[in-house]
Amino acid sequence: MLYHLFMKRKMYFFEVKDDEREFVRKKYPEAIISSDVFSEKNKEKVKDAEILCVMVHSDLSAKNLSSLKNLKLIITRSTGYDHIDLAYCREHNILVSHVPDYGSYVIAEHVFALLLSSVRKILEGEKKTAEHIFKEDGLRGMALKGKTIGIIGLGKIGAHVARIASRGFLMRVIAYDLHPREDLARDYGFHYLETLDELYRESDIITLHLPLLPSTRHLINQESIAKMKDGVVLINTSRGGIIQTFDLVEAIKAGKFSHVALDVVEHEDNITEVSELLDLPNVIITPHIAYYTRESVEKMYAISSEIIDSFLRNGEVPSQYIVFGD
Ligand code: NAI
Repeated sequence: MLYHLFMKRKMYFFEVKDDEREFVRKKYPEAIISSDVFSEKNKEKVKDAEILCVMVHSDLSAKNLSSLKNLKLIITRSTGYDHIDLAYCREHNILVSHVPDYGSYVIAEHVFALLLSSVRKILEGEKKTAEHIFKEDGLRGMALKGKTIGIIGLGKIGAHVARIASRGFLMRVIAYDLHPREDLARDYGFHYLETLDELYRESDIITLHLPLLPSTRHLINQESIAKMKDGVVLINTSRGGIIQTFDLVEAIKAGKFSHVALDVVEHEDNITEVSELLDLPNVIITPHIAYYTRESVEKMYAISSEIIDSFLRNGEVPSQYIVFGD
């Protein structure tokens, strides 16, 4: 039945890795699968698309979407959807859906991978042993127990960061969110501050877990960095645009941070634009892999299929997966 319905639909999957193809091919034999991002370059080739399933590097701006006259449904297999022009989709009756939670804990786990790699100098240590030098010189680290970690954005991911920090590492956890939830604070062992300024002032480590919105873009800039402690550790696994890169680079060069650890940067598709950042000492950058585990990818595809099957069946998307625009 579903297959019959699907035959009438043109469905495209983008950003599908080699080891994910098999699943898509089996489930939707007629779907067109590509490892590329959806971009200006290929938009003409897919102009008959009715269903588009993508990840975060696809550029679903109004300019690119405007050639897809039959488009009815977008599924981004990600949680974030700042790569999609929601206003355009609303105006053109295109349903936008996402995967709100494929395991928020995996991003939180990556936060601690970045944090420990930084403050315990794992990469520098590994480099030494790779050169057959087995000496501790220059590798003295910093303990986490008792340190204050400030979490900006205490949603699904931030909550797991709080849990691991307070229960696992016995850190003092403070948080700032527009919508504080005292039940969460009690369960996960942290407390909310009323202002971001307090969080900047008190934190030894700051970790960002906000969506990228006009109101959060460049939240971390010259002015906010100046309010942070000298020697603070800054971690960003949310979106590169939350940080004003040039201000960050200047502050790193001025010795403001003991470590900066990023999984996301501005201009990820043209990394040379932030090349200065890539070459600075005490900076660790991973290529947007915080989400990327075997378990989370399986869940992304499972939920995407649930969305597609529901849409094929009755033209609807389960409400928990619908993106309601800004
Ligand atoms: P969420 O929606 O559960 O939590 C976001 C929190 O930020 C909410 O509690 C909200 O009230 C708060 N918030 C929004 N604007 C704020 C502001 N101006 N000031 C203070 N708080 C504000 O989102 P979740 O699942 O925790 O994800 C957070 C972000 O992480 C996503 O939007 C996405 O961009 C990013 N992400 C990155 C991944 C990676 O692989 N690096 C993977 C998944 C998500």
